[in-house]
Amino acid sequence: MTLRRRELLHLAPALALAACGSQAQEAPPPDLPLKDAAPFPVGLAVQSGSLTDAGWRAVADRHFNQVTPEWEMKMERVLQDDGSYDFSAADAIAEYAASTGKRLFGHALIWYAQTSPAFERIDGQGSPFQAAYRNYIHEVAGRYRGRAAAWDVVNEPVAEDGDGFRDCVWRRNFGMAYIDRAFEHAAEADPNALLFLNEYNLESLPAKRVTFLRLLEDLLRRGTPVTGVGTQSHMDVELAPGAYAAAMREIAAFGLPVHVSELDISLGRGAKAMVQGDRALLLKQARLAEEVARSLADLPAAQRFGLTIWGARDGDSWLRRPPNNGGSPTDQPLMFDDAGRPKPATAGLLRGFG
Ligand code: XIL
Repeated sequence: MTLRRRELLHLAPALALAACGSQAQEAPPPDLPLKDAAPFPVGLAVQSGSLTDAGWRAVADRHFNQVTPEWEMKMERVLQDDGSYDFSAADAIAEYAASTGKRLFGHALIWYAQTSPAFERIDGQGSPFQAAYRNYIHEVAGRYRGRAAAWDVVNEPVAEDGDGFRDCVWRRNFGMAYIDRAFEHAAEADPNALLFLNEYNLESLPAKRVTFLRLLEDLLRRGTPVTGVGTQSHMDVELAPGAYAAAMREIAAFGLPVHVSELDISLGRGAKAMVQGDRALLLKQARLAEEVARSLADLPAAQRFGLTIWGARDGDSWLRRPPNNGGSPTDQPLMFDDAGRPKPATAGLLRGFG
């Protein structure tokens, strides 16, 4: 047990009190670095513009040892309409990771939600399209070879309701084999990177989890080089206790490394806050954060790839920028408040790590 985690055990009473929520006893959440307390890397989503924000750096440098580009390593940003590449923002993030000793997680090579005129111009043209697909994956994953420890190779392949799979330009040109080809090309481009299949709502939509896990099983049976599974974990604070842990057990059943890849826990706010009060919602958020952390910490060491939070401070969250995912300008979905202070959810993570 590392020294830091032994410290954590001494903090346990304070952590427990911080969870009680009783105003009189309440101890402020301990400001123990998350990365030191966790039995796996703890990451955050980053935008290159944040790298010069002192408030953001104060949280990111202290608590995290992994980064995922929130959108600047995606096709929408790196592939220009004329087919050229602009890696300037992605390179800035990769440099930040290297200079601060953080693991870099590449996100995302192929996603139904993103294409480019460079592909649309050759849509349906058979081998030119397939060559361009391979070239794109080699260009991007190859650029960060030896720097990105892992990639979300295919993101969100399952239909929203879990009934089948997303229609997208990639599927129209390859059929479902677009997934196999993407992983094969990524493995060629960077044989040492872990290659993840990434999806959301696996904890809240059993039908989607079933479809996703059947897809994963089929891919593995065919020998497709999937070497990691990502569960995004964009959640609502009202998720039933135990649902996350149950989903994690199913997701981990294939024995692959598991990445909690995009954690945020929306309070929704509005009517809910009026009825329950912010304090009650923040404590529910802390309980759910604890369940997430414990679900991953309880896995065998080889499967505890890491936990990434989809932003540093509440104000950095995509959910503050409606209409993203049902959020609102007053949502408080992350682990640190607008001023970068630990919230009850931080204490929840620490309890779950322990
Ligand atoms: C989101 C980013 O947070 C936004 O900034 C961007 O405008 C759109 O994409 N699932 C994913 C992420 O895999 O890439 C998405 O990130 C959130 C949902």
